[in-house]
Amino acid sequence: MDIRTVGIVGAGQMGNGIAHVFALAGFDVLMNDISEDALNKAVALIDGNLERQVSRDKISAEAKAAAMGRIRTTTKLHELGPSDLIIEAATERETIKQAIFEDLLPHIQPHTILTSNTSSISITRLASRTDRPEKFMGFHFMNPVPVMQLVELIRGIATDEPTYRALLAVVEKLGKTAASAEDFPAFIVNRILMPMINEAVYTLYEGVGSVKSIDESLKLGANHPMGPLELADFIGLDTCLAIMNVLHDGLADTKYRPCPLLTKYVEAGWLGRKTQRGFYDYRGETPVPTR
Ligand code: CAA
Repeated sequence: MDIRTVGIVGAGQMGNGIAHVFALAGFDVLMNDISEDALNKAVALIDGNLERQVSRDKISAEAKAAAMGRIRTTTKLHELGPSDLIIEAATERETIKQAIFEDLLPHIQPHTILTSNTSSISITRLASRTDRPEKFMGFHFMNPVPVMQLVELIRGIATDEPTYRALLAVVEKLGKTAASAEDFPAFIVNRILMPMINEAVYTLYEGVGSVKSIDESLKLGANHPMGPLELADFIGLDTCLAIMNVLHDGLADTKYRPCPLLTKYVEAGWLGRKTQRGFYDYRGETPVPTR
């Protein structure tokens, strides 16, 4: 099937990046959020990120203008109804995601493919609550979406082949690379990445190293572009903790237990860059380690 119009639920970190890459690839995008303010901020952010690509000669000014012209916003979820493809990129909480799909169902087309950008929640379970588990998939982008090449495609137990093929074609049109993952907790990237981040927090918790020495070790000793604690702040410590809990609950193995120090940071509301404090304090000119 030919996918031309895309509805995106959520204008946060992931939603705005997804809108950016779809608009640039020629899709008509309608982005939804409950907050008008979040939508305005997302559009301004997309504009700034596209401008960065123009200034680095990655795209032309015309391509930027055309992409901006393809993005519309709405606070009314039902207006996403006519879309060929819907990507849910709301908060990583199952009840919220379920409620969004429930509200969408009466308004969508028979051919509409439903997807979730969840980083860890069961696709099969989300799909089973809709009227079309065969047209439901996990569509997992990495942050920052305009820069990261990979997209994980996750089939639920009922997902049919035409739906999978349609999404493969979409990923190709985006100029990205798809990795197929089976529907088990946290799929591939986060199954491997999050225990590494959690272990970095244990390394800090047990006093093996400081924030600075842990991050420097992985950057200079393993050629990672960011240290694990810096990356955790970038992803959001609440998201990291939520994913560890999904791994711990879903696989029932103590090797996935979240580090108590990670829980403490989240309890303090120190969630990383988005709240200006996490393993680093971002309120000054340069980030300062908080431990
Ligand atoms: N939009 C568009 N372009 C962007 C951008 C954005 N939001 N952010 C960065 N860029 C571009 C920059 O313009 C720059 O382009 P050029 O190469 O043309 O110069 C390039 O990306 C690199 O950016 P910077 O020079 O500003 O910074 P950097 O070299 O330090 O790289 C980074 C930044 C790409 C984020 C790099 O540090 C990195 O790769 N970090 C690891 C990111 C990562 O692991 N992401 C996955 C997280 S896990 C996940 O997302 C899954 C989940 O479910 C939690």
